[in-house]
Amino acid sequence: MKIVGFVGSPRKKGNTTAIVNEVLRGAKDAGAEIKIFNLNELSIRGCQACYKCQTPEGQCVQKDDMATLYDELFSADAIVVGSPVFMFQVTGQMKIFADRLFALLYPKDGKPGNFGNKIKGKKAVAVYSQGQPDTSLFAPQFDLHEGVLGFVGFKVQKRIVAGGMTTPDAARENRSILEKAYAAGADLTK
Ligand SMILES: Cc1cc2nc3c(=O)[nH]c(=O)nc-3n(C[C@H](O)[C@H](O)[C@H](O)COP(=O)(O)O)c2cc1C
Repeated sequence: MKIVGFVGSPRKKGNTTAIVNEVLRGAKDAGAEIKIFNLNELSIRGCQACYKCQTPEGQCVQKDDMATLYDELFSADAIVVGSPVFMFQVTGQMKIFADRLFALLYPKDGKPGNFGNKIKGKKAVAVYSQGQPDTSLFAPQFDLHEGVLGFVGFKVQKRIVAGGMTTPDAARENRSILEKAYAAGADLTK
């Protein structure tokens, strides 16, 4: 089983990375092969709305690092997607990644708006890290983000929200969040 993590934080040693790594560690200890990508380090342009991807076999025509990530998304059995909250929502890096997931859809029977999936029935864990301690504050945004993941074929089976993450080390010092993350990783392999 292969599980791939995608992190939308610009801080490579920050909270989101720490939690996503812990999910992956749980998965690895349960026997999975794991990988992690930091979106901020990659060159990924926004979707150009050319619609060339919109056929059952169609692929994104942009030649950037997203090409590697599409291969990973197709070969993964499950994914872990993590983002800090920036200005009430997921980061711009994560939003660009989510827009590019449009290439995983196509208009079924050639009918625009009637979407078919190139990827189906894979599992996901969603991780969020935020400064505010109230972990319910941004739930509507998290619902939307996970709605996109579900729409393109990745059903989020666990949401982990780390609140009060006001320093880059806060997650590493939070045993309860780390335990939740590790267990979510192990569950992804079942
Ligand atoms: C530009 C920016 C905007 C932020 N906006 C919010 C926000 O709207 N709500 C919140 O709770 N925290 C906000 N934060 C705090 C981060 O979500 C928090 O520090 C998070 O743990 C950072 O994750 P990281 O360590 O993985 O980078 C913001 C931080 C930055 C840099």
